[in-house]
Parts: sequence; structure tokens; C-alpha cells
Amino acid sequence: MLYGKKGQGEDMSVIEVKNLTKDYKINKKGKGLGGAVKNLFVREKTVVRAVKDLSFSIEKGEIVAFIGPNGAGKSTTVKMMSGILNPTGGQVLVNGKDVAKKRKEVVMDLGVVFGQRTQLNWDLRLGESFELLKRIYRIPDERYKENLKVMDEILGINEIIDIPVRQLSLGQRMRGDLVAAMLHSPSVLFLDEPTIGLDVEGKYAIRKFIKEINRVKGTTVILTTHDLGDIQELCERLIIINNGELMEDGPLREVTERIAPFKTLVVEFYDGEAPKHAKAELFYHEGNIAKYRFRKADITAAQLIDEIAQKQAIKDVSIEEASIDDIIRIAYQGSDDKI
Ligand SMILES: Nc1ncnc2c1ncn2[C@@H]1O[C@H](COP(=O)(O)OP(=O)(O)OP(=O)(O)O)[C@@H](O)[C@H]1O
Ligand SMILES: [Mg+2]
Repeated sequence: MLYGKKGQGEDMSVIEVKNLTKDYKINKKGKGLGGAVKNLFVREKTVVRAVKDLSFSIEKGEIVAFIGPNGAGKSTTVKMMSGILNPTGGQVLVNGKDVAKKRKEVVMDLGVVFGQRTQLNWDLRLGESFELLKRIYRIPDERYKENLKVMDEILGINEIIDIPVRQLSLGQRMRGDLVAAMLHSPSVLFLDEPTIGLDVEGKYAIRKFIKEINRVKGTTVILTTHDLGDIQELCERLIIINNGELMEDGPLREVTERIAPFKTLVVEFYDGEAPKHAKAELFYHEGNIAKYRFRKADITAAQLIDEIAQKQAIKDVSIEEASIDDIIRIAYQGSDDKI
């Protein structure tokens, strides 16, 4: 998997993940009363290998979608990339430095946001929470003010800066968390499901922020998400993992073409039956609406519409590219499912 690798003599990659592996040891629970008693005395451990020999590299200024199904090992990888967890094997280099060995140095160059958790302090106002981080990271006054100004322009943070963190809505809290992650001007930002649970407007604000800091500051962004819109709007490159292993790495369009080389034709008929077609799979039919999945290599959309229209009068049509959901579904299920 060479995508993203630089040739010799060129600048090093911002992030290099090399043969990264993570095992979690968990207590094995004995069953029944006997098991419960036994648990008191002997703690049997089982090992879950959450990340397996993962390697990829990321160049400066990229926005990369890091995706995969629940339990694939995304958060575990993000935690190792950001120095929160130590790897069982392999290493992560950020700007050439080993994250596990030079954690304190590297952390100054990293921002991390977990959509499910906050690094803000519940007991403080948002602004006070920022001040605390300013002290922790020893951010110079000038830079702190400048960063807050830029963040206000993008996220309108001043409107909410005096609200206690515990009173912030989820969307406001996420805005706060993004600012908090960028206060010390890191060159790399890890975002683990930053749009989870947000409404349309909230998602829009987060996406705008990611685009802007990438454009203005050249921040490298690694984004974990289950949201198709996030990926389509922001990411040119896709890394897919499953069961802790790398499955795909490449430009979004290339990966889509490779693993989901089909489109969907959505047809609204005036009434009645949806005719079958030899080169397209009729996979949905309800009322007057039918959906046909077809391979671009087998038939063109124009031909398909034409041939269906000859059998049944068509009122309206639209064509959908394979969605990220399709891509993920196929990637998870292996090659058998590729139509
Ligand atoms: N602290 C932990 N102790 C034991 N096992 C863990 C721990 N954290 C994660 N795991 C296991 O490691 C695997 C990977 O989990 P991880 O949270 O990295 O997945 P994910 O890709 O982020 O999933 P999701 O999309 O649900 O957030 C899962 O099998 C999970 O149960
Ligand atoms: Mg996760």
C-alpha cells in the first residue's frame, strides 16, 4: 500500500504509522456461581487484538477520512497516533518523532477531539476552560489571542464564551472542543466522530471549520466518521480499516470505483409494476418507486432508462453514485458481494 508514501529525498510525511498493533487484555469472566467465585481468586485474561499491523503515511495538508465499521479499531488507532495509548507493537511518527517515546514534545504539535468526550472543564465557563489550556500548553499571549480571533471568525465562539461548559448544547460544546484543540496551533488535528449527534447546522459549522483551518493554516486532518456527508465534503483520501486491518487506502473516487463500481437508477413510474432488466438488479420496489443497481461497465444509464421506458411509462428518474455506506458494506463483506 504505497499511497501517500513519499519518495526518497522528499520531505518526510507528517504522520507515519508503521506496523502498528494494539492488544487489549481483558478479564475473562467465568460463568455461573462457580465462575464468579473463581473470578475472585484467579483473573484469567483474554487478549483482543484491536489493531493489527497497520501501516500508512499522511502528508502535510491532507484531510484524510479514516473509516470502518463499529469496533474496527479506529478510535484505538487515533489514541495511539495521539499518544493517549501506547502501541503493543510498531510505532507512530509525527513529524519524524516517535509519539510513544517523545510524547510530551509531540503532543504540542497535535490536537485531538473525541466527539463522545470533551476536554473542556465542566465546572468552568468556556472562556475559562480555554484559559486553563493556555496555561497547560504555555501558549504565548499573542498566539492565544490571534487563535481565538481566527476561531471566532470561523465558529462564532465569542457568542458562547461566557456560558458554563455544562450548559452548552452538544453543537456548542463541539465548537468549543474544536477551538480548544487548536489553541496551541498544532499542525495535526485528529477528529474522532466530531459530527456525531449534531443537526444539519451543527455539522455544517464543523465542516466549515475543518475546511477553513486546512486552507488557512495548512492543518493536516485525520477524520473518523460514520457520516457520508463529512467524507464527501471534506476528504479526498479514504483509509478503510476492518478488524484492525487496513483494507483500502486511496483517493475517494478511486476507492469508490474499485470497490463499488455501480450506480443506482431511481425510477418513478406513473403506476404499476416495475419491469425487470437483465443487466440491472431491481433491489427496491415500493409503490411507484423502483431502484435498479447497475454496473457502469455493463450498461449506460441512458440505455437502461430507455429500455425500461419501453416497457413501462416513466414519470421521473435520478441517478445515485455508490454511497459511502455501499462502499463500507461491500468492503466489510468481501468480494462476493461486489455485483
Ligand atoms: N479499553 C478497552 N479494553 C478492551 N477492549 C477495548 C477497549 N477499547 C476498545 N476495545 C476493543 O477494541 C476493538 C476496537 O475498538 P475501537 O473503539 O477502536 O473501534 P472503533 O473503530 O472506534 O469503533 P466505533 O465505530 O464503534 O467507534 C473493539 O473490539 C473494542 O471492543
Ligand atoms: Mg470509535
